[in-house]
Amino acid sequence: MNVIVTESYEASAAWVADQICALIAAKPDAKLGLATGGTPVPVYRALIEACKEGRADFSAVRTVNLDEYWGLQPDNDQSYRYFMDTNLFDHINIKKENTYVASGLGDPQANCRALDAAVLEGGAPDLQLLGIGANGHIAFNEANPDRLIAPSHLEDLTPSTIQANSRFFDRPEDVPTKAITMGMAGIMAAKSVVLLATGASKVEAIRGLVMEDAVTTSNPSTLLKLHPNATVVIDRALADAVG
Ligand code: F6R
Repeated sequence: MNVIVTESYEASAAWVADQICALIAAKPDAKLGLATGGTPVPVYRALIEACKEGRADFSAVRTVNLDEYWGLQPDNDQSYRYFMDTNLFDHINIKKENTYVASGLGDPQANCRALDAAVLEGGAPDLQLLGIGANGHIAFNEANPDRLIAPSHLEDLTPSTIQANSRFFDRPEDVPTKAITMGMAGIMAAKSVVLLATGASKVEAIRGLVMEDAVTTSNPSTLLKLHPNATVVIDRALADAVG
């Protein structure tokens, strides 16, 4: 596992965006695994700028997203489909039909089968972008004392994740308690993985990932230690706090 320490979160985001631009320059029909949440927003801003300046062409790029809240309509402004459209897809020259976000509606099993098929269709993602939860979750594979789940599944979000996600919602009762998530197998299938993290709430999770040797279900991100091409990108402030 590679660890990149940059001078600032902004520099981390620029580094990740540059990796993505280099990938799609080398492979115009590259497949990207994408994340939502606060962390990747500056990466998406940098990609939009790169596209507008003609430094990145998304016309043949394919994407698959890690997860989607259960039970939100796609036009709900908290759905991850809405997030991806408004934070990235609507501002770059990607074809919407080349983007996949689980529906989060209807039959959970059908959602899971369709997401797993989308992960592997035409080959696994060339690059999977990840954020990380305060409890070490990646996608919504939540920390658990004894097991992680390999395929895509409907996950019960933990109270700490629901609490963290509540900052995006007006009313606590609106925060979804379940999400369809790519499983650990889908994440590990990616040809390369880039995990971006910043902020004090991520110190413990990142410490377990980059400072300790253990692979443990209580910090799902630690499974990335077994991935042949995983990179963790953190800023100096987080690196110093991790110790
Ligand atoms: C989102 C996702 C989650 C987030 C994580 C961190 O698609 O898969 O694992 O990456 O919850 O969220 P932020 O970036 O908001 O701290």
